[in-house]
Parts: sequence; structure tokens; C-alpha cells
Amino acid sequence: MADEKMTLEVFRYNPEEDTEPRFQNYEVPYKKDWVILDALNWVKDNVDGTLTYRWSCRMGVCGSCGMQINGVPKLTCAVFLKNYYPNPIRVEPLANFPVIRDLVIEMDGFMEKLKSVKPWIIDDDEPPLSEGAYKQTPAQLANFKQFSMCINCMLCYAACPVMALEPDFLGPAAIALGQRYNLDSRDKGNKERNEVIFSHEGIWDCTFVGECTEVCPKKVDPAGAIQQAKVDGAIDMVKSVLMPWGKK
Ligand code: SF4
Ligand code: FES
Repeated sequence: MADEKMTLEVFRYNPEEDTEPRFQNYEVPYKKDWVILDALNWVKDNVDGTLTYRWSCRMGVCGSCGMQINGVPKLTCAVFLKNYYPNPIRVEPLANFPVIRDLVIEMDGFMEKLKSVKPWIIDDDEPPLSEGAYKQTPAQLANFKQFSMCINCMLCYAACPVMALEPDFLGPAAIALGQRYNLDSRDKGNKERNEVIFSHEGIWDCTFVGECTEVCPKKVDPAGAIQQAKVDGAIDMVKSVLMPWGKK
């Protein structure tokens, strides 16, 4: 057992030197308690210090270690070598994002999308804290709690077939984040938030394949958030036609 090995087929690309990406194979020790991130760290420490990738917490919290593992978006700190042993493991950068170098993707566009849904409480008439404005019942919290568990790992964007065709699509995590605030009893920002969520690049592009929910490591259920938002949006539209005076 001590000498058993596995092969990692790792995507390599250095824009300063390479004209195109390539794959490089590394033989790594096979240990039952190693996650894929451990094997990448072993390569970096022992074989090739130029291998470039993101990680931080190693406990499924920071959301930075997402990669394609045999074509499926995963947190590399959360999947064990033993799940694949003795077969090779192909490690690639998250799909549907530009590659900066090796396994590191460009995430500025993703961050802009999150920001565009105004992920904060909007309430111009916010009463002072002494009046208990921030208190919520457990039922009110339960309304949106699931959508607040996102760690911004971007796995859902890598899995989304719409994102592959339309890079400007707002995407699952941003829509779920918008719903998180739209459903918050303290918030009055639905109207301005929905201008983004229901825009051309927004919610209607989703074909409800559900891959985003499949790959989400935190059970946020972004596909559910999208469907819920579509229903809310449709009801708002009907109301605005039938009762234009009642629409804020
Ligand atoms: S919704 Fe899930 S898969 Fe998408 S970014 Fe958040 S935690 Fe990751
Ligand atoms: S290293 Fe933080 S989620 Fe994997």
C-alpha cells in the first residue's frame, strides 16, 4: 500500500510560454485519506513548483479550489483519491471561464454578476436598530436561508449548459443570491434587483437542466431559486397588467 501510485493528468497552460494548453501526467502517491487537493499540493511541493491553482481552507468552506475532475466540477478538497483509484484522474480548470494559468480561472466576470444583483438589504425607511428592525422569526429566516449558504465556488457556472453558450448569462449563483435578498422580510429592493434578474441576460435564459443544483456542494439549489424567481416574476407581470395602479 505504501508504494501505490495514481496518475493525475493535469491541464497546463502558461500564456507567457505556451501557444496552447497541454496535459502533463504526474505519478502521485495513493493514500486513502488524501483528497485531490493533497495530491496537487504533493506535486507542487515535490515535482513541479510552477503548477498553479487556487485553494485556501481545505475544508469546503472558502470555495476557491473548484476544478473539473474527470469532466465534472468538484471542490478538490472534498473529493478523495480513493473514489477514482486505480484509474487516472484528469484535472482541468473550471469550464466556462477564461483560463489565466494552469488551473486558475478568471473570476472577475463572476464577481461582477454577483454584485449586479445588489446582494445587500435595501430599505430606505430602515428604522433604528433599537426598534428591532433586524429581528426575524425562524420561519422568515427559513424562507431564504438555503440560498444564503453559497460559498461562491462557481461549480454551478461550470456545469451550466446555458453559460457555455451565453457567457453573459447572469447564472445560477447570482440569481440564487438575488432571491436570497428578495425573500428577506427586511428587504424592499425587489424592484431594482429584478431589473437585473429579469433582464435579457437574466433568468429567462435558464432552460432548467438542473445541473447547477446537481453539482452544488452546499445544497443551495440554485435551480430551485431560478424556478421560484420565474414564478414570482410571472405573477408580478400578471399583476402589473391587471392592476397597474397597485404596482410599486
Ligand atoms: S450555488 Fe452552490 S455551486 Fe453555485 S457558487 Fe454557490 S455554492 Fe457553488
Ligand atoms: S480549499 Fe476551500 S473549499 Fe476547497
